[in-house]
Parts: sequence; structure tokens; C-alpha cells
Amino acid sequence: MTVSTIILAAGKGTRMRSPVPKILHKIAGKHLVAFGVDLAKAIKSKEIVVVAGNENEHATKVALSGEKVKFCTQKSQLGTGDAVKIALDGFRIKSKYTLILYGDTPFIKINTIKKMISKADKGFEFIFLGFDARKKNSYGKFKLGPKGTLIDIIEKNEPEYNLTDSLSNSGLLLARSRILADLIQKIKNNNAKREYYLTDIVKLAAKHGHSSTYVQCKEDECIGVNSQLELSIAEKKFQDDFREKLMASGVSMQSPETCFFSYDTIIKSGCILEPNVFFGTGVKIQSSTIIKSYSYIEGTHIGKHCQIGPFARLRPSTRISNEVKVGNFVEVKNTILASKTKANHLSYMGDAKIGANTNIGAGTIFCNYDGKNKHHSTVGDNVFIGSNASLIAPLKIGNGSIVAAGSAINRDIPSESLAIARPIQQNKHGLGKKIMLKLRKVSDKIKK
Ligand code: UD1
Ligand code: MG
Repeated sequence: MTVSTIILAAGKGTRMRSPVPKILHKIAGKHLVAFGVDLAKAIKSKEIVVVAGNENEHATKVALSGEKVKFCTQKSQLGTGDAVKIALDGFRIKSKYTLILYGDTPFIKINTIKKMISKADKGFEFIFLGFDARKKNSYGKFKLGPKGTLIDIIEKNEPEYNLTDSLSNSGLLLARSRILADLIQKIKNNNAKREYYLTDIVKLAAKHGHSSTYVQCKEDECIGVNSQLELSIAEKKFQDDFREKLMASGVSMQSPETCFFSYDTIIKSGCILEPNVFFGTGVKIQSSTIIKSYSYIEGTHIGKHCQIGPFARLRPSTRISNEVKVGNFVEVKNTILASKTKANHLSYMGDAKIGANTNIGAGTIFCNYDGKNKHHSTVGDNVFIGSNASLIAPLKIGNGSIVAAGSAINRDIPSESLAIARPIQQNKHGLGKKIMLKLRKVSDKIKK
């Protein structure tokens, strides 16, 4: 069966009380609306249409750039029924069925959609998704008929609402495209909120002799995000599920609840994560690496058997090979570290390529920025950079070279050389003692 997907994402999200549109808030580094796009792709939708609002249209397009989606704009947010009408008027959907997803409901599973599709295969024309809520909520409520049919969905603020004690409506709908396109024109806004409710389609379907039913899923799949509190609840669910999956795949965590991951974090088995580690987007870590506490890692690939942290900051476009050590208060950005290289203490490495088995001494700074432009440095294999060196880019340091501690290096160093770039030390015999005595006399005078 062919399915096209419409994602409703035009709502203002006033309850978020934020200048950022609701569907562009993120969970684990991914925009809310992108969860819907991923689900639509997973069920192999023929086409994906996103209904954006006037105010969030541009930002939504930017957030979804690179995705094969079509956009249409709902100028005034007149309700979910109006949003679907705009999408169907704008694009002639040829698929037999249309799936309506909400941009604020990120955790729906592909298996749930498959269950909805199998109801469609049985001949139902409208299939909604419901759940049994543990606590009171303000979701639409199903009014059920005989043999698993659906007669109506009652929205909050409607007179019947408090009398209905049934499944809550997740918002998702799988509908026969042709019939949906016809009935959507007939939805009216004669309700308390003067909105065009998509959920009114159930009553209309019954009136025109079409069948509606529902699929039930677990409540936590249907978590919707309408406020900052709900966003934090959704984030917690994502993190809890992700930690469980990682541990099941062989990653050790002493204090899982203190480690935070992005939707695309990949960590292979045998890795150990100490407490309080943060993974931004684009992180991939090979097996048996240890990430020590208080490390902040984003956009970085790390090899096997490495030791990172404590207090390491790894920034985007960093590539770390096997058996590398990056220690405390070390920041790395857009840099390649080849295998067995060490940078154990207090260092900044930016825009560089560093060879294998090289030692970056404590306090080494790669001076990559001249105030206007960024410059690149290359450091060879088996190099020893002494402590507190400033490496002023652009710079090339050949294999097997040594940089003396405290040097400010701004010229290339050939292989196997020693580079010293610091003032020559002078020792003045006896002058230390003389100065000490003088100072002591002055302080004695002040005390008297
Ligand atoms: C809706 C359902 C309710 C369901 C709940 C589940 C209706 C009438 N009610 O209510 O039965 O229990 O979702 O989360 O459908 N949107 C637009 N244009 C609009 C209005 C909304 O694109 O004019 C989009 C929003 O961006 C959002 C989604 O539709 O992604 C749902 O809108 P929202 O206002 O959150 O609906 P609820 O009041 O939660
Ligand atoms: Mg909602």
C-alpha cells in the first residue's frame, strides 16, 4: 500500500512561551519536527509534506534542509483540520493512504504505524492512534462504538468532554487519501475554540458511510510537547531509553543518569563512561575507550583504547585515532590526532594534523587565529613538544623533532631537529641573596 505523510507543524506553540517555534525545539539535539520526518522516511512515504506557519516557515526550511520534503504554509493557525486542508489543496496526494503526524509528538514507533497500516489493509478508511492515560490530561477523547469502531473524538472545552472516560487521542491519523480530501472540505469551526478540528473527521466519516477505527499504543509513545516542562519530560524519556540501549549493547556507565547523549551518538561496546559526560551531535567512539568525568564531546570521532578526560573538551571535526590520550583541561577543535599521541594537560589544539606517537606537552597552545583568519599546523610523528610552547600557525613540524619548553615557534621545523625559541637565561651569582637581604631590611623598617 502506498502512503504519503503530512506533518503538521504550523502551530504557534504559545504554551512554550519562547521566541523559538515549538517544533524547532530540540530533543537530544534533534528538532521536534525532524522526528516526524524520520518516521515518515522509515515507513517509506511516497512524499512528505510539512505544513509550516508564517512565522516558522523559514526556520523550519533551514532545519530540514537536506531532507526531501515539500512545504506549504498555513498563514493563520485556524486548527489542525485547516492545516490538513491546506496540505491537501496544495499537493494532490496520489498515495492510497495519507498519514497525518503532529510535529510535536516525537516518539511514535514504526511498528505502531505498521499496526495502523494493517487496519487499513482490513478495509478501514480512518485509523486513529489512542492510548490509555494514567493521569488526567487535556487530550481529545475517543468515543468508541461496537467492534472496535470509533464514533467521535471529543475535544477539551466541548460539553461532552467530562463525561467521556476513554482512550486519549494521540493526534495521529492514517486515512484513505481520496475520502480525506473530500471530507476535509466539510469540517466546520462551530466549537468553543472556533477552530477547524481534524478530529471532527470521525463524525463526518460516519455520516458519509465510512468506517473509523483505532490502534492503541503505550502512553509514553504519544508524549506530546506543549510546554517547556513537557519538553524536559520528553528529553528525559529519550535519555533514559538511550542509556538503556547503550548499556544493553555493552557500554559501561557508573552513573548513567548523569551522562547525556545526542540522537546520533554511537558508542561501541567495551567503552566506559565515567559520571557527568556530555555528548553533542556527531560523536562516534570505537570500542574499549574510556571517557572520564566532566568531558564535553561534540562532532568528534574517537578510535579504540583511548583515554579522554577528565575535563576534556572535544569540538567539531576532531578525529582521534586508536590509543590516544587527551587529558584534563585539553581542548581540541578541527584536529586530527594519529595513534598513540598524548596531550595530557592544559592544552589547545585547533586546525591541526598531528602525527602518531607524538607528545604535546602541558600548556601547549596552537595559535591558529591571527585575529582575522584561521591557519593550519602540521606536526609529524614521534615529535616532542615541550611544555608551554606556542605554535604559531601556519606551521609545519617534521617527524622526530623536539620543541623546547616555553618556545614561541613561528617558523617551520625540519625533521629530527631541536627548536628553541625563547630568551637565553642568565644566572647572576650572589645577586639573589643580595636582593633577599635588602627586601627583608625594608619590611623590618615598616613593621617598626
Ligand atoms: C491535538 C488534537 C487532540 C490530541 C492532541 C494530541 C485536534 C483538534 N486535537 O490537540 O485530539 O489529543 O493533539 O497531541 O486535532 N497545528 C498546525 N496548525 C494549526 C494548529 C495546529 O499545524 O492551526 C499543528 C501544531 O504545530 C502541532 C499539531 O498540529 O504540531 C497539534 O496541534 P496542537 O495545538 O498541539 O493540538 P492539541 O491542542 O495538542
Ligand atoms: Mg499538542
